[in-house]
Amino acid sequence: YGGQIFRSRKPPLLGSVVVDDLEALMKEKFKDNPGPYNFVAGGASTGVTQVTNRKAFNRWKIVPRMLRDVTKRDISVTLFDRKLPAPVAFSPVGAQGIFHEDGDLASARAAGKLGIPFSMSTVASRSIGQVAEACGTGPRWFQLYWPESDELTASILSRAEAAGFDVLLLTLDTMRVGWRPRDLNSAYVPMAHGYSAQVFTADPVFMAKNNLPPTEEHAPFPYNPHEVDAAYLSGDPAIKQRVDLSLHVISQMTNGVFRSWEDMAFVRKTWKGPLLLKGIQCVEDAILAMEHGANGIVVSNHGGRQLDGAIGSLTALARICADPRVRKAQQLGTFTVLFDSGVRSGSDIIKAIALGAQTVLVGRPYVYGLALGGEAGVDAVMRSILADLDISLALSGYKSISEIWHKRDEVLVEDD
Ligand code: FNR
Repeated sequence: YGGQIFRSRKPPLLGSVVVDDLEALMKEKFKDNPGPYNFVAGGASTGVTQVTNRKAFNRWKIVPRMLRDVTKRDISVTLFDRKLPAPVAFSPVGAQGIFHEDGDLASARAAGKLGIPFSMSTVASRSIGQVAEACGTGPRWFQLYWPESDELTASILSRAEAAGFDVLLLTLDTMRVGWRPRDLNSAYVPMAHGYSAQVFTADPVFMAKNNLPPTEEHAPFPYNPHEVDAAYLSGDPAIKQRVDLSLHVISQMTNGVFRSWEDMAFVRKTWKGPLLLKGIQCVEDAILAMEHGANGIVVSNHGGRQLDGAIGSLTALARICADPRVRKAQQLGTFTVLFDSGVRSGSDIIKAIALGAQTVLVGRPYVYGLALGGEAGVDAVMRSILADLDISLALSGYKSISEIWHKRDEVLVEDD
C-alpha cells in the first residue's frame, strides 16, 4: 500500500492524508449545516473520554528492532476462519446518509473492494439488502442495537443472516444514547430525521406493529437535513410518515429498558454465527461474555460518545487481555478480542495488537473520508491507514501481525 501511494506523486485526493486535517476539512465543508459534522466529531459531555482514548495510545511506545530482514511482510490475519487482508475492520456507524448522498453504500463498496469487513449499523441509512449488495465479495458484519421486542430482534437477525451477514456485533453500551451537547446545540437528532430507519421500515414485524406494509427500498432522503425539516413542516405526508416511524425506532432503542446477562440466552440461541459483544471495558464483563456463550468482544467505549469519564479504551484492552483466562481462550481460538475507539494510525494498530487485540475497528476517520469524497474518500482514508501500518511494521522490525501478537511482551514499553 505504501509503495502505491509514494509512487503516485499525485496530490492527495482529499487534500490531506492526516486524519485531524480531514476533520477540519469536513468542518469547513459543513459550516452552513454543522449538524452532521458535530454528530461525527463530537463525544459525550465534556469530551474527556474521547481525549483519553487518544492519550492512552501514548502510554505505550514501540521498541523498534534493527537489522532484521523484514523485506517481505504479511499484514493479513485470520478471523473466524476467514483470511483478512489486514487486522482492520469498519466500525458500525449509523445515519451515514447525512454525510454523503451515497451513505452507507459508499463505505460498504470501499470496504468490499479492499476485502475489509464492513459492519452495517442497525441504524444504517440503507436497507439490509442494499448494503449487502454494496459489500460485494467482502466480509459482512451486522451490528445490533437490541430492540425491546424479542420477536423484532429475531426478525432483524434472520433478515441479516439471509443477506449474508455472518458476524454479529451486539452493542451493549448504548441502551440509552449518551449526553451529547454538540448534537443538542445544533438541535440535531439524525435519527429523528428518518435517515436511519431503513432496517425497520423493511421489517415485517416492526411495520405490522405500526400497521403498515414493509418497504424494502425507498428513495434516499434529501441530503441536507434542513430540507427534511422543510418537507416535514410543509406537511409532505411521505416524509412525515417516515419521520414518525423513526421516532418509533428511537423509542425502541432508548426507552430506558436495560437488558441483563440473562437476556443474552435469547440472542445466543437466535444467532448461529459468531457473536461479539461490543462495548466491553473490564475483565469481569469479558469473563461474563465468555460464560454467556459469546464468541468474543469488541473492547470499545463507542469512541467516547457514551459515558464521559470512562476509562480509555486501550487501557481497558490492556487490562482485559492481561487476564490469564482471556489470554488462554484467545490462544485456544475460542474467544476473539477486537478493539476500537481512537485508532488513527499504523502504530496505533501495532500497539493494540501487541496489547492483545486480534483486529481493530476504525470509526470516525472513514466517516470524514465519506463526507469529503464518498466511496473514493473512504478508500483513500483506509488505504492510508493500511500503508502506514505496513510501513510501521517494517520500521518496528517485525514481519507480520501474528509475530507482533505472539511476541507482545517484547514489542511495547510503558512510557508516559
Ligand atoms: C458510531 N458508533 C456506533 N456504534 C454502533 O455500535 N452502532 C452505531 O450505529 C454507531 N454509530 C456511530 C455513528 C458515528 C457518527 C460515530 C462516530 C460512531 C461507534 C463506532 O462503532 C465506534 O465504536 C467508534 O466510532 C470508534 O471510535 P473512533 O474510531 O471513532 O475513535
